[in-house]
Amino acid sequence: MSITLAGRRALVTGATGGLGRAIARALHARGATVVATGRREDALEELRAELGDRVELLVADLADRDQVAGLPSRAASVEVLVANAGLPASGRLESFSSEEIDRALDVNLRAPMQLARALSPAMVERGAGHLVFVSSLNGKLAAAGTSVYTATKYGLRGFAASLRADLRRSGVGVSAVFPSFVADAGMWADTDIELPRGVRLPRPEDVADAVVGAIERDRGEVDVAPVGLRLVAGLAGVAPGLVASLAQRLGSAEVAEQAASAQRAKR
Ligand SMILES: NC(=O)c1ccc[n+]([C@@H]2O[C@H](COP(=O)([O-])OP(=O)(O)OC[C@H]3O[C@@H](n4cnc5c(N)ncnc54)[C@H](OP(=O)(O)O)[C@@H]3O)[C@@H](O)[C@H]2O)c1
Repeated sequence: MSITLAGRRALVTGATGGLGRAIARALHARGATVVATGRREDALEELRAELGDRVELLVADLADRDQVAGLPSRAASVEVLVANAGLPASGRLESFSSEEIDRALDVNLRAPMQLARALSPAMVERGAGHLVFVSSLNGKLAAAGTSVYTATKYGLRGFAASLRADLRRSGVGVSAVFPSFVADAGMWADTDIELPRGVRLPRPEDVADAVVGAIERDRGEVDVAPVGLRLVAGLAGVAPGLVASLAQRLGSAEVAEQAASAQRAKR
């Protein structure tokens, strides 16, 4: 079921990041009250200063299980969840410590599942609500040098699709959003890696529009990516081996290595 955003309370995780800020702005512009969360209080305060009224701030570390458990009651009866927080767990598996793997799983996959579990029963009871999970095109397309990140993003895709089937006819929609590399702001833009000329990347505002559209039109899956990458992701669904060897030939492992070294501090 589609819902209108005006007057709703929407919890946005990762609201301090490149995509989360754009998502918070877009939901706020539709008339929602935004309950914005992240670890960095100063960045949350900046968001409130920008948006003005209808913004509440909750500092929380989603790698801390007690803080994840406490977040739903602190957020108080939200009707929309945008599970957007994520860390770029890029790099080859052997370069990860066991704690880094756990943190990636906790922030990227476990926290969205726990938040959905805690928040969805009240939405079902009211017969209205929406859960959005920000996955990645890596949730459809396995690339070299991203095994940990890709596992979390494939996991999020499966979780959202199955939950959507469970909540059919409950009045609560479930969507997954799949951005490719995003320009201007966010974890990819922060790497400053140049892609070949002619690849026109989406911007954070495009991802935010996709999130709003997914909620308002109750869409199960929305890609936010150049058409060429969408086609490759579609092909990967039927011929993963072929796409993996093509990507390897085009140098995807080298790009992944550069990204891993630029994103190391965010692990
Ligand atoms: N940018 C892209 O190209 C791209 C492409 C595909 C998918 N995505 C996905 O889009 C989502 C947003 O990414 P982004 O590009 O906006 O990245 P970003 O700018 O690095 O922001 C990441 C956000 O996640 C939050 N976060 C990280 N670790 C956290 C933790 N332990 N506890 C609570 N919050 C935590 C950060 O908040 P604090 O730092 O305040 O804790 C920040 O708000 C992610 O799920 C990412 O996988 C991004």
